[in-house]
Amino acid sequence: MKAKTALNSSASFLFVVTVVLGMVSAASPQNLDYGYYHHSCEDFEAIVSRKVTQWFHKDATFAASLIRLHFHDCAVRGCDASILLDYPGSERRADASKTLRGFEVIDDIKAELEKKCPRTVSCADILTAAARDATVLHKGPFWANQYGRKDGRESNAHETDVVPTGHENITHLIEFFQSKGLSLLDLVILSGAHTIGRSTCDTVQDRLQNYKESGQADQAIDPKYLNYLKRKCISASEYVDLDATTPNTFDNAYYTNLQKNMGLLYTDQLLQSDPRTLPLVTSFATQPSIFPYTFSVSMVRLSNILQDEDGDGEVRIQCHSINP
Ligand code: HEM
Ligand SMILES: *[C@@H]1O[C@H](CO)[C@@H](O)[C@H](O)[C@H]1NC(C)=O
Repeated sequence: MKAKTALNSSASFLFVVTVVLGMVSAASPQNLDYGYYHHSCEDFEAIVSRKVTQWFHKDATFAASLIRLHFHDCAVRGCDASILLDYPGSERRADASKTLRGFEVIDDIKAELEKKCPRTVSCADILTAAARDATVLHKGPFWANQYGRKDGRESNAHETDVVPTGHENITHLIEFFQSKGLSLLDLVILSGAHTIGRSTCDTVQDRLQNYKESGQADQAIDPKYLNYLKRKCISASEYVDLDATTPNTFDNAYYTNLQKNMGLLYTDQLLQSDPRTLPLVTSFATQPSIFPYTFSVSMVRLSNILQDEDGDGEVRIQCHSINP
């Protein structure tokens, strides 16, 4: 008992140190500002929040999709709304984007903002605000965003090749996050977004299949959970919850599921078996109160990824196409 407590507290100490270091390195990019729209579009955040809430009440599955859309935006060319551009060969048309949703929500918010403050609010900032509001709607944390992102004028389908699909090893994930200026802690905590939302069965079919054929999973998977997944995934287009226990609540159950071998994606469950990520999973699983704050710190770090050539950016009039 005593040994366990000592272990826990040294894990928390390590954890606090990591968070503090993370915050120091998360200095805000030069051109982003908390008060960016204060004079030019005072109601920007209120408008986004009202719209996201309306869509959520019509169909609650949109919230998770908006958070993922923001991640896929920031993962390629920084947070520049390149994911929204819609033409042959754009990121949005790539294979890696085929299960992304929520584009109509962003278009709807943008249309409202063009009425209230024409040519002022970037689509990249809308994605940033919407992802935060979506988190809050699932009882997750609120955080303050800085704004002033510009919308990019380029989007290339092949650049989405780097976005993880759920079949990578941990080294690959760590290196991908590192290439975006994100840490090991960011990887583990941002994966916690999978505490809400769904995956298509298509994405996990190979995991279930492997198990059937070899009698052995790619790694441990709870037998009852596996049985449930096999029954649920009768077709590839079927959806299954990423968090099998509390799929609609932004809590730390994602991590406690991993401890029970109930991670849905291969990459989710790997966080529990890799010695580099395991201590962090244990911290979040055993200390539920540190999850919300740490998640919000990492979300800000994700949202503030900007690429150098952001100088050529613009404020798009319509999110799905560059300005004429
Ligand atoms: C660590 C690497 C990550 C991998 C490998 C990964 C992979 C995936 C996959 C495969 C899906 C399901 C796709 C399908 O429908 O088939 C998914 C869904 C989702 N991901 Fe991730 N993801 C990662 C990181 C993130 C991050 C950083 C966030 C946000 C902070 C995020 C948020 C979400 C959300 C909310 C969903 C549910 C979407 C919905 O319900 O529409 N993911 N992810
Ligand atoms: C992990 O993935 C990387 C890149 O995809 C690959 O080069 C490496 O061999 C893999 N490592 C292991 C241990 O499988």
